[in-house]
Amino acid sequence: MLLKGKNIVVTGSGRGIGKSVAIACAKEGANIGLISRTLEELEDTKQKILDLNTGVKVVLKTADVTKFEDIENAIKSFASELGSLNGVIANAGYSRMWATHEFDNEKFSQILDVNILGVFHTFKASYPYMKKDDKNDKARFVITGSEAYPNAPSRLIAYVASKYAVVGMQKALAAEYKRENINFNMVLPTQVDTRLLRGKNAGDGNKAAHVLNPWDLNEFYVFLLSDYANRVDNALIFTQDLNEVKKLLAEAPAGKKENWEVFKDYLEEIAPQIFENVKNLGKLVDFIIERMNK
Ligand SMILES: NC(=O)c1ccc[n+]([C@@H]2O[C@H](COP(=O)([O-])OP(=O)(O)OC[C@H]3O[C@@H](n4cnc5c(N)ncnc54)[C@H](OP(=O)(O)O)[C@@H]3O)[C@@H](O)[C@H]2O)c1
Repeated sequence: MLLKGKNIVVTGSGRGIGKSVAIACAKEGANIGLISRTLEELEDTKQKILDLNTGVKVVLKTADVTKFEDIENAIKSFASELGSLNGVIANAGYSRMWATHEFDNEKFSQILDVNILGVFHTFKASYPYMKKDDKNDKARFVITGSEAYPNAPSRLIAYVASKYAVVGMQKALAAEYKRENINFNMVLPTQVDTRLLRGKNAGDGNKAAHVLNPWDLNEFYVFLLSDYANRVDNALIFTQDLNEVKKLLAEAPAGKKENWEVFKDYLEEIAPQIFENVKNLGKLVDFIIERMNK
């Protein structure tokens, strides 16, 4: 188990990516704090975790990440019930789509509030309770970004602004807290089959082939929270690049894919752009290789 005994908080864990990641972390032995605004959804995530019978603790709190007091109270209660926090995943997110000249003004602010202010609130509320006393076991703050950075798709003006903003915030956080034992990293997914992307149709079995399942992202978060990533800081994990890497690993001849050290030269030769994008993520590629070989 990669996260045995670690205490991990996931915002937006009532459904979608956050739910899947919370369950994956519990499978790896972590105690989990769940946050969203919808109690029944959180209870369902909790039940799925309890059904694993891994003996982990699960605590849930309804909280709105746009309200500091809400999130502060939730995090405080996780810390008192679980202990100091090893990992916090700022994942709660929201989006709506309109042509920019018709974009609803209130929704614009709401999207920024959830996706930017929510990340700030989550960090500020968590900081006092994060475990920062061991450089060999650093606390992790993980943000769910989006491929909207840097692709900037149309009709998503507020969402694009928010997902650009969190990349800047991560860079600032990593620099500001450089001398403390906290790592800041981000997963930037392409399209995923969740309510945010597909509304009520999420999970109906009719997603387009290129759309990922929420659980396709689990390993990136588990990696970032695990001992493998103790020295990984201010990384941007673009799921599209890593999924390409996985395909190339599957096709690579034996002798070229035993580990990152041997694979990287092969990758540079056959896919120079992908190599360029992932060349600082050797530890993650090693992690993927190990899991593929299991
Ligand atoms: N789906 C995609 O294609 C995609 C692609 C790239 C990145 N992402 C990112 O992935 C993250 C998770 O989204 P998802 O796709 O899993 O969407 P989702 O299924 O709609 O889940 C969003 C989660 O965030 C919670 N949430 C929303 N507003 C909140 C608030 N104000 N306070 C607390 N919790 C709140 C929701 O619960 P309540 O509404 O009950 O509060 C829900 O649990 C987001 O940051 C999103 O931007 C998604």
